[in-house]
Amino acid sequence: MITGGAGFIGSHVVRLFVRKYPQYTIINLDALTYAGNLENLKDIESAPNYRFVKADILNQAGLEKIFDEYGITDIIHLAAESHVDRSIVSPLDFVYTNIIGTVNLLNTARHKWAEPAGHLFYHVSTDEVFGSLGEKGFFSETSPYAPNSPYSASKASSDHFVRAYHETYHLDTIVSNCSNNYGPNHFPEKLIPLFINNIIQRKPLPVYGDGKFTRDWLYVKDHARAIDLVFHNGKPGETYNIGGFNEWKNIDLVKLLCTLMDVKLGRAAGDSEQLITYVKDRPGHDRRYAIDATKISSELGWKPSVTFEQGLSETIDWYLNNTEWLNHVTSGSYQTYYESMYANR
Ligand code: NAD
Ligand code: DAU
Repeated sequence: MITGGAGFIGSHVVRLFVRKYPQYTIINLDALTYAGNLENLKDIESAPNYRFVKADILNQAGLEKIFDEYGITDIIHLAAESHVDRSIVSPLDFVYTNIIGTVNLLNTARHKWAEPAGHLFYHVSTDEVFGSLGEKGFFSETSPYAPNSPYSASKASSDHFVRAYHETYHLDTIVSNCSNNYGPNHFPEKLIPLFINNIIQRKPLPVYGDGKFTRDWLYVKDHARAIDLVFHNGKPGETYNIGGFNEWKNIDLVKLLCTLMDVKLGRAAGDSEQLITYVKDRPGHDRRYAIDATKISSELGWKPSVTFEQGLSETIDWYLNNTEWLNHVTSGSYQTYYESMYANR
């Protein structure tokens, strides 16, 4: 069972597993919140080894029924509230889904897997649990936890529960902590898809603070490949850091995006850069993330397969070719959300 499979990363993981492992039956459990969208999986929805189940991880009784009905053997858990800005506005939503939802899932696995051996609970987490780096250094698997946003605090808490269930109840668990993903199907509230959408529509590009905040970007399909490797070859009880070896200051990334999009949209050079608008900073904004991915690379043989320029170019092309998807996800309450989000910036 893959939870959160209708979301951004989850949909890439579901597709990879459905196609690569016809011998597995893949159950995609997702509540279809604003971030979940079955259009992300149209190409595999009628595959014989795929089932979608609409369910909320906050509903423990529902989870137990699903375990019984489908005989769930292993879990890759991605369902979460994932956006830092939303967590600043509504921290409790993150406590419910990310902490309580994860504990519900752990409890269900613990009760249903009478013999824990032979089952795996794999929790997909974030590098944000480690807090912020200075100018130098990297996050490794032994970096101390120091979350700064309600989102990262909720993910840190869920990581700790997963660890505790391994130690206390001997559940076979793995946690991976990944850096910023980008690629097709990314909801346009996060930096890259929001700015692609705004450039298309010639709307302002709201760069937080001085724009010199650094993120380590990884193409989502490379994250999905890493999850496949960790799921099959990772050691229970261990954690793995996943990152793109690809640090960018936000403002440099935004300028690259503008340049690529000017070419693709046939606009004059420098046109889109004029949309850049510096706005008030995000509270508690982490200055820099960077992952040391040596462990997953040396133990499991993983490395990113595309350069940032290739991945970004493919991503822009995907958004330009999927305007229907973009229109669907930005209709409804999207506009109201943005107006309230940026009202004070
Ligand atoms: P997303 O917001 O795109 O998708 C989350 C999915 O979870 C959606 O399909 C949503 O419907 C589902 N969901 C939310 N609440 C649910 C609930 N209560 N019950 C069942 N389903 C629910 O998120 P994403 O960016 O794909 O991230 C997936 C996971 O990977 C998250 O756990 C996130 O913390 C982690 N992660 C994300 C990134 C990133 O850069 N996006 C990086 C590292 C780790
Ligand atoms: O590091 C992994 C994390 O990456 C994941 O765990 C999160 O789920 C994911 O959302 C992402 O978090 P960030 O906060 O780093 O991503 P976001 O796209 O929101 O912001 C990236 C950077 O861009 C960050 O420094 C804030 C800045 N930013 C973001 C937005 C949305 C802006 O300057 N302007 C914006 O409008």
